[in-house]
Amino acid sequence: MIAITLGRPADFEGWRAAARQLLLAWVPPDEIHWQIEGETADLFAKPPELASTFQSRRDILVPRAFMGLAEEAACHRDPERYALLYRLLWRLQKQPKLMHDVADPDVRQIQILAQAVKRDLHKMKAFVRFRRIMTAEPEHYVAWFEPEQHIVDVVAPFFARRFAGMRWSILTPERSVHWDGVSLRFGPGASRSDAPLEDQLEEIWRTYFASVFNPARLKVKAMTSEMPKKYWRNLPEAQLIGPLIRDAGQRRDAMIEEPMPQPPPAPPATLEQLARLAQDCTRCPLYQHASQTVFGEGPADAPLMLVGEQPGDQEDRQGRPFIGPAGQLLDQALAEAGIARDQVYVTNAVKHFKFEPRGKRRLHKRPNNGEIQQCRWWLEQERALVRPKLIVAMGATAAYSLLQTTTSISKSRGRQLATPDGTALLITVHPSFLLRLPDAASKAEQYHLFVQDLSMAAGLLTGGGHA
Ligand code: URA
Repeated sequence: MIAITLGRPADFEGWRAAARQLLLAWVPPDEIHWQIEGETADLFAKPPELASTFQSRRDILVPRAFMGLAEEAACHRDPERYALLYRLLWRLQKQPKLMHDVADPDVRQIQILAQAVKRDLHKMKAFVRFRRIMTAEPEHYVAWFEPEQHIVDVVAPFFARRFAGMRWSILTPERSVHWDGVSLRFGPGASRSDAPLEDQLEEIWRTYFASVFNPARLKVKAMTSEMPKKYWRNLPEAQLIGPLIRDAGQRRDAMIEEPMPQPPPAPPATLEQLARLAQDCTRCPLYQHASQTVFGEGPADAPLMLVGEQPGDQEDRQGRPFIGPAGQLLDQALAEAGIARDQVYVTNAVKHFKFEPRGKRRLHKRPNNGEIQQCRWWLEQERALVRPKLIVAMGATAAYSLLQTTTSISKSRGRQLATPDGTALLITVHPSFLLRLPDAASKAEQYHLFVQDLSMAAGLLTGGGHA
């Protein structure tokens, strides 16, 4: 038995380095005991002597779909997590498609762990409340939080981005993190009494919460599952929940239905910043089950922007738009229309994969209007930065997002339209529609029309029409 001791509970980098060595040496999973420094050591395990013992130069296969999940699962409290990760990595060397087999118990388990970590990350991002330390000069804010998993290191960069201009500390029972406006510093755990309990900011926050509380949308069950009661004692606004729920009926009758005000984030200056920000998007619930945000890609000054519906299964796994079957068909049609894909900015109206699990498969589900509207904020930011001369909306979802009204694709295709703010717009079918057509003849006919629409776009851009 070989003992591998990792430096801390969420030591993904340590695991990765050790796993690489072990795999190069072809050490089977059941000969390894994974442990964490400071936790109980296995008396029978011996320290590794891999560097001197093993020399193999085997190529290690590490699919991206595995790495993303592994990084999240490493933050879980499950004591078997590192053994599971290594077992999967070991099996992937002989079964490279293993991650697609969602019925496999190891694949299922890593997904369960990663999902639990994702949920915990979301809760922490939503429920951390900073309180000002009144005696600290310069201003310093402290928050107390009790995460369920080992997520402090992973979530800290999010708070550094979100509260870049503040000096703050987040204290948790097992680890603390501090931001001085420049860099993050990690330290040991703390106790709840180390964090201040009240300050004037809370009054402002409570007022804000009461003003955005919408009684017409009150769903007590959903609310308590989104904001579980165990977080309430650290949330200043939680004191308001009881009275607000009690008064909801009366207030609902009196109120005019208005969209929930969302504090608008400052618009980022570059596509890279925007894409980074989008990775943390929680504007609609789709992020909870998708693997990642799939952001647009292409030159920042592309004259042509193509907008699809939402990422599909492969896009979700690999984090890039239009790389699956619909993307391949799109590439082919673009080439026939004389458009180089790498000169086009390609994106989607909705940035997370919406699906329904069906056995081993994840079946595409159409996004609803609310999800399209929430995600439109990102599309608008992409448009503002790229400023394309012409946009091609592929399919009804993209057309709805860009025009803000429902359109018939068959009636509007082939016509030069404009978005409400005046950008030239063409509408065509979505390439997935072509893939779904049952017979070869209609497939060929529709594909021809699709290429014709793209050729029209190319013509408009090269001066054959005003764009
Ligand atoms: N369908 C889309 O609309 N977008 C993708 O990225 C892939 C498939």
